[in-house]
Amino acid sequence: MLALTQEESSKSFQTGSGASHALIRCMDNSQEDLTKDHCSVASSVNQLYYESNQMPSERKTRLTSIRDNTVAFPVLKFIDLFAGIGGIRLALEKNGAECVFSSEWNKFACQTYEKNFGEAPAGDIREISSKQVPDHDLLTAGFPCQPFSISGVSKKGSLGKPHGFDDPTQGTLFFEVKRIIRDKRPRAFLLENVKNLLHHDSGQTFDVILRALEDELDYDVHFAVIDAKGLVPQHRERIYIVGFREPRAFEFPVISDSKPQLKNILDPKPPEKYGLTPHLWSYLRAYAEKHKKLGHGFGFGLADLDGTTRTLSARYYKDGSEILIPRGKGRTPRRLTPRECARLMGFPESFEIPVSDTQAYKQFGNSVVVPVVSLITKRIIECLHQKPISRAKQLSLIATA
Ligand SMILES: C[S@@+](CC[C@H](N)C(=O)[O-])C[C@H]1O[C@@H](n2cnc3c(N)ncnc32)[C@H](O)[C@@H]1O
Repeated sequence: MLALTQEESSKSFQTGSGASHALIRCMDNSQEDLTKDHCSVASSVNQLYYESNQMPSERKTRLTSIRDNTVAFPVLKFIDLFAGIGGIRLALEKNGAECVFSSEWNKFACQTYEKNFGEAPAGDIREISSKQVPDHDLLTAGFPCQPFSISGVSKKGSLGKPHGFDDPTQGTLFFEVKRIIRDKRPRAFLLENVKNLLHHDSGQTFDVILRALEDELDYDVHFAVIDAKGLVPQHRERIYIVGFREPRAFEFPVISDSKPQLKNILDPKPPEKYGLTPHLWSYLRAYAEKHKKLGHGFGFGLADLDGTTRTLSARYYKDGSEILIPRGKGRTPRRLTPRECARLMGFPESFEIPVSDTQAYKQFGNSVVVPVVSLITKRIIECLHQKPISRAKQLSLIATA
């Protein structure tokens, strides 16, 4: 299941940015043709990576015999921009890659990052020159999504504030990513954002981004919207944009359609402080009732313990209303604990949470679902170990799409 829906695919054509997406689509049909030189190597590469995860780091760069060939696989180096608490880094390190630089300016996110990775990220990316950024194979960036998210746009709109690229503090950060790609020319990049980035400003925002990456920077770009709910019990759709300096036979992973259940990640005895006060619970019910009468869908989300939750957002610390856990008759529902939020985002139990609950909710709500990023980055790494496909071949694939 390629997560680019038909509607989104045709939208990308409407906005004049269809070339590489034609490539994605035609790969559905031409997959065999495209990858037949590579697929036997690919399965060995997978195996190598599983093995390399078991190795001490000093042994990761080495000559490894694959079948009859001797192939050198140096450890892939990446940079972690807008690092947050390092969700993308966790996924890449799991796949054997090495982080050589990170940037994050929020002091609480930096505390969590340092506690878990043993190093503090550099600060404001706008003040870091490209010369200060080490050479790397893969650039990753979950650049701030608030200027593009539906709730961010409507809040800024109602306050008469600019959004998207016009938001002077957060909206222009994509251009910092572009600057570093332009100056450092990494072999690949992975960008992550909210799904609404596709639709913001009637598709024009996404069009600007694609034109910058494809036409100005000359990268081979693929994108997909992926819902994490097959891997964690949370409905969370995010857009992932992957680019290669030399075109690659890249495909987004197929996410399992198994249905993880919320009840399996809940603490059996969460502290009482996570229960809603009767006052807040009646307020939330009254608010939902009022909006129902007005025909709006706003309101709290009482979670289905056998199903998936709504999307965890950075606003969860406010009242937790988007994901409330029922506690049975006669009791108010409760909010998730920070540790349960970590699980909802696919973080390992060993991940440490050194900050207040408020900061932890913000940090997990802003982060990525680690297993989704792990599957995508595994594919990117495999592609980087395969031969590039020639431009001529890529163009002929587009022509026949
Ligand atoms: C959507 S979050 C990314 C979260 C990250 N992917 C993770 O796994 O936690 C965007 C991050 O960019 C950071 N940020 C915003 N502006 C920044 C800037 N100018 N320089 C560095 N970091 C910035 C925010 O503090 C926030 O943590």
